[in-house]
Amino acid sequence: MNVIVGITGGIAAYKSPMLVRLLVKAGHTVRCVATEHALEFVTRVTLETVSGNSLYSDLFAPANAHSTEHISLKDWGDAMVVAPATANIIGKMASGIGDDALSTLLLSFSRKPLLMAPAMNTQMWECPAVQRNVATLKADGVRFVEPAAGELACGSTGTGRMAEPEEIAQALENMLAAAQGQWLAGCRVLVTAGPTYERIDSVRFIGNYSSGKMGFALAEALASHGAEVELVTGPTALKTNARGVHRIDVESAREMYAAATERFPSCTAAILSAAVADYRPEHTADHKLKKQGDEGMTLTLVQNPDILATLGQMKQQEQTLVGFALETDNEAANARRKLERKNLDYIVLNSLRDAGAGFGVDTNRVTIMSREGNTYSTPLLSKREVAEEIVRHCLAPSCS
Ligand code: CTP
Repeated sequence: MNVIVGITGGIAAYKSPMLVRLLVKAGHTVRCVATEHALEFVTRVTLETVSGNSLYSDLFAPANAHSTEHISLKDWGDAMVVAPATANIIGKMASGIGDDALSTLLLSFSRKPLLMAPAMNTQMWECPAVQRNVATLKADGVRFVEPAAGELACGSTGTGRMAEPEEIAQALENMLAAAQGQWLAGCRVLVTAGPTYERIDSVRFIGNYSSGKMGFALAEALASHGAEVELVTGPTALKTNARGVHRIDVESAREMYAAATERFPSCTAAILSAAVADYRPEHTADHKLKKQGDEGMTLTLVQNPDILATLGQMKQQEQTLVGFALETDNEAANARRKLERKNLDYIVLNSLRDAGAGFGVDTNRVTIMSREGNTYSTPLLSKREVAEEIVRHCLAPSCS
């Protein structure tokens, strides 16, 4: 792997060459990037010798003046570790500041595996602003090797000492392993979830029992593999704070149609799990309708647009489209007809006959059918596990 080691100006920089050596010994190709202050603590010659590569430290050095070295380095690196990471570099990254070679590289590296090993005096480490910045970076997906407690270079004792090079090297290996599970990185996937509500008047609607659990599980499974998810959801009490999931709340089928058709062209794939109302009242009253008496009341329903069929028409060669089917009889034959009629790549068949599967429950059992005629049935699993199976079966060929 290509690993970039960033070094900032703290006394712990004397340990950075040891980290570089460990990474080289583990088989990685290493390039060092140092701030101006880091080079007060460790020399260019040392870093170039242990890494076996030239050091990058000056954004405006003649060799880099006409190139964008921080961008080519970003493309080159599979992972990056900043050790030691001072309060200054943590603060800059958390605020999006790039004013030297290392900080500009870090900003361009923000979507790749990035590890920081902070080192500073205890009071600085415990400063609320520093902790806020660390929390911000963690929420952005940056990983940290927490500083250790012990005797510090300033003579005091407390938390702030940089973790040992061996521990940092191990954390980097763990991060790389996790990153390899990110096989959907760079893919944007549209997911529809939940029911739709079709308004009758200001207080009533036509809806269904869909909880949205399957769609939310799909969104989270996709995001866990690095996909960017556009989750268009009908009314649901569910919440998600999965990183990479962008939630768009809608109420009616027509709102879901507008949100989905707008986003689909920029997506690699779409999985439509929403239980969309096929019909809506022809007229919606803007006040509460009064009782009509013994004569009863007639609602005229008109058909809603079919989102899945529309995406099937819009679909480009490289896009993958997955639909769901909820059937009660002639299940496989009906699902296959639906797959062909709506121009899908896969259809996920839910059977209402299965105990433990369907609306509201936490488990599901599905059959995934491909356009090529392959069929795969899952056992009864949690919806999250079913989501994982669907993602693996349907998206591996297009997004890997
Ligand atoms: N779907 C959709 N828009 C609609 C209706 C359905 O996007 N207006 C999607 C669902 O999200 C699901 C699939 O189509 O992925 C299955 O829809 P379903 O209602 O079961 O199929 P229909 O085509 O409506 O056929 P039928 O009602 O005859 O079973």
